[in-house]
Amino acid sequence: MKTLILILSTIVSISLCQSPDQVIRIPQGYVGGFLVGKIRTFYNIPFAKPPVGSLRFRKPAPLPDAPQWQGIRDATTYGPLCHQDDALLPVSEDCLQLNIWSPLNATNLPVMVFVHGGAFTSGGGQYYSGRQQSQRDVVVVSINYRLGAFGFIGAYDLIKEDPSTGNYGILDQLEAFKWINKNIHLFGGDASQVTAYGESAGAISLAIHLVSPVTPKNLFHRVIIQSAGSLYKTTNATIPNAELNYQLLKSNLNCTDLSCMRNRTAADINFHQSKYPFIPIIDNVVLTKGIFTSVRKGEYKNMNIIVGTTSNEMSLWTCPKYDYKISESMLVQILTETFGEYVVQEIYKFYKRVDFEEPIDMLNAILSDSVLHCPSRYFGRLFSSNQEFTYQYTFDYGIKYLFNSCFKATHASELPILFPDQLVFRQYNLTKAEETMSNDMLDSWATFAKTGIPTSTSLKWEKYNAETDYETKISVPGEAEVRSGYYKNVCSLWDRVEPE
Ligand SMILES: *[C@@H]1O[C@H](CO)[C@@H](O)[C@H](O)[C@H]1NC(C)=O
Ligand SMILES: *[C@@H]1O[C@H](CO)[C@@H](O)[C@H](O)[C@H]1NC(C)=O
Ligand SMILES: *[C@@H]1O[C@H](CO)[C@@H](O)[C@H](O)[C@H]1NC(C)=O
Ligand SMILES: *[C@@H]1O[C@H](CO)[C@@H](O)[C@H](O)[C@H]1NC(C)=O
Ligand SMILES: *[C@@H]1O[C@H](CO)[C@@H](O)[C@H](O)[C@H]1NC(C)=O
Repeated sequence: MKTLILILSTIVSISLCQSPDQVIRIPQGYVGGFLVGKIRTFYNIPFAKPPVGSLRFRKPAPLPDAPQWQGIRDATTYGPLCHQDDALLPVSEDCLQLNIWSPLNATNLPVMVFVHGGAFTSGGGQYYSGRQQSQRDVVVVSINYRLGAFGFIGAYDLIKEDPSTGNYGILDQLEAFKWINKNIHLFGGDASQVTAYGESAGAISLAIHLVSPVTPKNLFHRVIIQSAGSLYKTTNATIPNAELNYQLLKSNLNCTDLSCMRNRTAADINFHQSKYPFIPIIDNVVLTKGIFTSVRKGEYKNMNIIVGTTSNEMSLWTCPKYDYKISESMLVQILTETFGEYVVQEIYKFYKRVDFEEPIDMLNAILSDSVLHCPSRYFGRLFSSNQEFTYQYTFDYGIKYLFNSCFKATHASELPILFPDQLVFRQYNLTKAEETMSNDMLDSWATFAKTGIPTSTSLKWEKYNAETDYETKISVPGEAEVRSGYYKNVCSLWDRVEPE
């Protein structure tokens, strides 16, 4: 996502200057949002205490159900993003807020909660406008959660304070879901019909909530997992791995204890954290084992699910890294470095160079299959053994204006279609064909939220199971179709390593 934002390098200006004429009372006070068309919009509603000072590096503290401010809190402008680099909006450590889009006069509408991606280090709910989705008679919420070290620091020192460590950002999301459960009826939403959808790190987060013993049942009832990259590799880190990063950050901050680290400025922490990976870990509380292991053991919340990927996911990293081109010999070299000689021999039994235009296209297919397509399909497959309403998709379209011919349908390329007036993409108007695809995707997501079955005019869906192996190819009209067994051959290679 970070690269994507840099590629787009759009200049974003949000001068809404709306008057807060949509006033709603929540337990913490009045919030004043605004009306766009028939959609009421509320930005920057806090769902937890500011995680600052002594609350830094701790699980989020719930907001008391008592007035927290006087008068009407302005909900017409976005709140700050959580600390990160290359932000398109101001950042702050005090960032635990959510945004709501709700049709006028809504009562008891299904709710859709979007959890953003960005490798657990960037992004924000503010980048995703729920306006178009909510026009399909759903209430949409987009949430923030702490990123980088603020959200994912883990250490033995911290376990002395609380048994759970390393997953504060995941617990922020949980706190947001609890807030929604308690308060969304005030915005016309039905807390008993919540669909969670997330992309990339947001999708991995939702997979964590599906298996986590600390996430109660019934906070959400349906789930859409979009491009959960490295679903298993990112969540096999344990406390000792996290401790290493904690020690490095601590010494970078010239600290010897936590109280010193809590006294450094957020900017100092942000500056040093970017050198080390802070990601969710198996802390034995939030996560007790790998996601796939939990699902295989039946230890997960069973619900209707859509799971999918984009067709050329990994190009987001390979195309810029290799300057959009690699030679034939480099292809073999990169594959050998990545997989080892033995696996490369196997790979060449499944992938033929003649099937790809450029060497980089073949590299992208191999990496995307191994890191995303096959693990995602496998996840859906595990789910489908217990869940009749499992759906799979591949998003196979790259907006030409945003992605050059090397990228094709890269990681995150469904986002400008699913969020057509998304903050980051606002300068681009969809073509007629793209608009049709967008409407079909928004309709599919909304009907899934309402009925548990994705339905739209021209995009067809079939239930997935291991035998039919159906998936929907999402693309412009004429290109979209339901396919069977599309990844069967290549995934017979990659599924040999059972993900944890
Ligand atoms: C919403 O309710 C108000 C007051 O009852 C009514 O005047 C208005 O027409 C309704 N708007 C919509 C979009 O249903
Ligand atoms: C997680 O698993 C991957 C793949 O098996 C391995 O390469 C990586 O080192 C593991 N990471 C940790 C932190 O154990
Ligand atoms: C840590 O100490 C070094 C050397 O004295 C100094 O340059 C640096 O600014 C200090 N960093 C912080 C975050 O205090
Ligand atoms: C650090 O501690 C000092 C003394 O208690 C306090 O004045 C200062 O505001 C603290 N700084 C931060 C960033 O918390
Ligand atoms: C997009 O469409 C709107 C409304 O028709 C127009 O005002 C705007 O200039 C268009 N933007 C671009 C980048 O073409």
